[in-house]
Amino acid sequence: MCGIFGGVLKKGAIAPLIHDGLKRLEYRGYDSVGFATIDAGTLQVKKDAGRIDDVVRRLKMNNMPGSMGIGHTRWATHGAPEMVNAHPHTDCNGNLAVIHNGVIENFMELKEELLNKSHILKSRTDTEIIAHLIEEELKGDISLQEAVLKSIRRLEGSYAIAVISTLDPGKILVARNESPLVLGVSKDGTFCASDVPAMLPYTNQVVYLRNGEFAILDQDGYEIRLVSDSTVVERSLEEITWSQEMAEKHGYPHFTIKEINEQPTSLRGALRLQPQYLGLLTALLDRGREVFLLAAGTSYHSCIAASYMFSRLARITAFPAISSEFIEQYGSSVGVDSVVLCVSQSGETYDTLKAIDYARMKASTVLGITNSVGSTLTRVSRAYIIQQSGPEIGVAATKTFTSQLMVLAQLALRLALMKGKISQDEGDDFRENLLRIPDVVEETLNRNKTHVMDLVDKYGGEQLFVFLGRGISSSTALEARLKLLELTYVPSLAYPAGESKHGPISIIEEGVPVIFLCPRGESRKGIVGGIMEMKARGARIISVCEEGDHEIIGLSDDVIEMPKGIKDIFSPIPYVVPLQLFSYYLAVQKDLDPDMPRNLAKSVTVP
Ligand code: F6R
Repeated sequence: MCGIFGGVLKKGAIAPLIHDGLKRLEYRGYDSVGFATIDAGTLQVKKDAGRIDDVVRRLKMNNMPGSMGIGHTRWATHGAPEMVNAHPHTDCNGNLAVIHNGVIENFMELKEELLNKSHILKSRTDTEIIAHLIEEELKGDISLQEAVLKSIRRLEGSYAIAVISTLDPGKILVARNESPLVLGVSKDGTFCASDVPAMLPYTNQVVYLRNGEFAILDQDGYEIRLVSDSTVVERSLEEITWSQEMAEKHGYPHFTIKEINEQPTSLRGALRLQPQYLGLLTALLDRGREVFLLAAGTSYHSCIAASYMFSRLARITAFPAISSEFIEQYGSSVGVDSVVLCVSQSGETYDTLKAIDYARMKASTVLGITNSVGSTLTRVSRAYIIQQSGPEIGVAATKTFTSQLMVLAQLALRLALMKGKISQDEGDDFRENLLRIPDVVEETLNRNKTHVMDLVDKYGGEQLFVFLGRGISSSTALEARLKLLELTYVPSLAYPAGESKHGPISIIEEGVPVIFLCPRGESRKGIVGGIMEMKARGARIISVCEEGDHEIIGLSDDVIEMPKGIKDIFSPIPYVVPLQLFSYYLAVQKDLDPDMPRNLAKSVTVP
């Protein structure tokens, strides 16, 4: 997730506006920054790694001449946060510049093709190939617009792209597929940005570009066309009435709820991983005599879920390990044959890094899954995957949890196929099920908001909650309970349902709400017994179950019904979502700040 801002002014320099616009997008990413402007027919590019204000001051970027230009604040996805990988990227001749937000899935094959045609690529990004593709198309003696369109048609993946060129120095060409891009018009000029807040100081008259659309901006306005066949699209401007602060949160009152609602998008991002990295991790996982899944907090809950996925799909025993316990618990046995797969959103959690140091000292193979390119985890891992969730500002992990699960599920599936533990047909069936999850999460969010708010009204005064699930749903229960603790401070308990009778049941008395996670699948039978046990002690049952599951619905006081057809091995991804909503709305009801729970830090970098 990166930030894009560009503009064509009728008069005056664009560079200070780019600086200001990118500052307002800093929440989208902040590891490097760059501007490109065109003045007197010459393209100028300045960029470097670092925070926006520091880089702009150091390189005197606000003095760049030209009334049109583009700028980018980066959240690295391909290539470390270094100057060479910062956007804009240029073609071989330095005549055109490109900025991009998203992931180009077929960039390896396009890169190969361009290298064979003697293009010189300087960075490790997927973006740079776009500049060279356009340069290549221009050799066919076509217009800049045609060349950009032809190049975009070859891209697979997600993108918001802005291009400027000395060939047509009064225009910015933009395109969008699945990464946001909005255009704005004022009496002073025309703008494009990843998000409305960037342009609010200049205009509140905007138009959102849709997937598969392309636009040409000049100082007088814009024209939108379809990428597929260049048909002109008529769309009128909308007036934005949000304040600056509301706009940064997309009109939501808190980042946490914005991030909960972003999950359909972040999950689509997590399904778009580069196959070669998935392949590399799978191959290395397969080499281990034993696999440890190492993490803290929410990421540990992903690891618990993953241990079920690895066992069920790939028939591999993988031990989930809490980072702070790892050395004492497994230190003596871990060794050269061990693979330690570390999951850390920030890639900087002290306990996780300390355990990694130990594992490396014992010559184990360390692998990583993280959301932060350039983090320590990426540097100390033999191989790693970036989960592509974009920055998470809310302290409590929400979208990064579901994306971690999506990555882990893909690894388990690949491993299963590679080891021949499932047939190709079964693999296709699982894969199709995974691909449905972003839509299922979207539907869950759409249909449950009001219902969950009603549940918060009904149960909001309770002093204790219990979360129970069987099989992989025990990880969902643990994570749902952690969200409730973090966001609302209400004491609660989470257990595998079968274990609850070995002690926890003693705290159940009349009226205590017990939340059961009951997706259909292998664990579904056992859950009914668990519900009966709790009901017999007077508990009030709230079930998260598949729609139309009449047996569970009949036994429950309240239900959250989930869309049908998700396999229970992937169920933690959608099933945690309504419970994230529950904790969020309960925090709001209690007048707490869900974005910054007390005593917690986003990244725990201390022992
Ligand atoms: C929970 C939460 C924390 C983190 C934990 C690990 O909502 O955010 O429990 O999950 O501190 O952080 P990472 O994943 O960055 O290692």
